[in-house]
Amino acid sequence: MQPRRLRQPIVVVLGHVDAGKTSLLDRIRGTAVQVREAGGITQHIGASFIPADTLRAICGPLLTQFRFDVTVPGLLFIDTPGHEAFSNLRIRGGSAADIAVLVVDATKGLEPQSHESLEILRSRKVPFLIALNKVDLLSGWTPHPGSPLLESIKSQPKVIVDRLDEAIYRVVGQLSQIGFRSEAFYRVRDFTKEVAIVPVSARTGEGVPELLAILVGLAQQFMRRRLEVAEGPGRGIVIEVKEEPGLGYTANAILIDGELRVGDEVALGTRSGAKVTRIRALLMPKPLDEMRDPRDRFTPVESVSAAAGVKILAPGLEDVVPGTPMYVVAPGRAEELMNAISSEVRSAIRESERMGVVVKTDALGSLEAIVSMMERRGIPIRIADIGPVTKRDVIEASVVREKDKYLGVVLGFNVRPLPEAQEEADARGVRIILDKVIYSLVEGYERWVQEEKA
Ligand code: GTP
Ligand code: NA
Ligand code: MG
Repeated sequence: MQPRRLRQPIVVVLGHVDAGKTSLLDRIRGTAVQVREAGGITQHIGASFIPADTLRAICGPLLTQFRFDVTVPGLLFIDTPGHEAFSNLRIRGGSAADIAVLVVDATKGLEPQSHESLEILRSRKVPFLIALNKVDLLSGWTPHPGSPLLESIKSQPKVIVDRLDEAIYRVVGQLSQIGFRSEAFYRVRDFTKEVAIVPVSARTGEGVPELLAILVGLAQQFMRRRLEVAEGPGRGIVIEVKEEPGLGYTANAILIDGELRVGDEVALGTRSGAKVTRIRALLMPKPLDEMRDPRDRFTPVESVSAAAGVKILAPGLEDVVPGTPMYVVAPGRAEELMNAISSEVRSAIRESERMGVVVKTDALGSLEAIVSMMERRGIPIRIADIGPVTKRDVIEASVVREKDKYLGVVLGFNVRPLPEAQEEADARGVRIILDKVIYSLVEGYERWVQEEKA
């Protein structure tokens, strides 16, 4: 029987700020450009595609050594920012991921946003490996640019190999404290039970061949079913809604399954539930060497196949909620799909009469993350919703405040109060706590309670 076609796995790169995520992707892209005759790379919106031939050229003899060939069509990499303010983008990246690379700075070990990324991966059950980056900074390391890590290790003195082991075992220890078993990839016995740690250097390229080979191996061995191309209409996730000069509102989306064509009807999540709109144009980044005018950054395409990162032009995108699913509407299925989307949007929204705080956020992922964090800390919620802080939110908080002054507040994540909401809050003495960092929003609330009680 003919094996079914596999789509490319979506690989999301996560990690703490400055761990080297972008540098590592640049190194992979640079290496891919060097082997251009093999097929090079293709830029997507918010992603880079490394085709199978390029992977074969980079991994070379490792594939013979590991005894497999590349049967996926390539790997689609999505970079994410590590700054604490961008939890949303990490969460959305995490939801689209088939597999992830958590980049950890070898000289620092796990840092706060490494932990946050691990929580996202755990809650979404995304398999991942650790790229233990910046091994070139281990003191005394002699670089072997572009070589496989195991080659490089062979020529380092024992004291340096011990130093590398110390960096590896620090991360092994930190991971075991939060319930993950891990090991250096060359000591892993069972890739389904242990997280592989791959020492790499984005600066010298050491370890990059192994990193790619292990990603391909994991994807092919453990996620075949998931990657078998689903027949039928496209399905994806909206990562960002962006106003572009000359284009108006656009949605950057990751297509996870199926196909997306100009003229397709798509169902999208909005603040009030869901809507159906028709795709007017699909845009991909213009190759750098064809970009004469920087304002003209995109190339229109007629269709894209999963997995892909694409910019969508359609009427009515302005109230689409980032982080929500996107479905191509097959004839007669609009209502069913809209219901599925609005129930996903609504499952994160809380509306109650109980004594609790009011929470407003900018996106579905951040709302889910904040609601679950507050619930874990036993903070009751009256309203949790997406959108700016409104006058009604303030009135609700002030109703609560009459009964319980510590719960009568509004918390806003990455949103602003509307002017009339701010006036109402000033008039009623209701506190609005705003933040762009999930942890510090919740901690800011707890600190405010302490101060009020003192
Ligand atoms: P954010 O996107 O801001 O979260 O950071 P990032 O994880 O993408 O890190 P980035 O690639 O911007 O690298 C941060 C700094 O570390 C830069 O100065 C890089 O040059 C440096 N760096 C990254 N990888 C390596 C490495 O392997 N070795 C050395 N020596 N420096 C590195
Ligand atoms: Na950086
Ligand atoms: Mg970066």
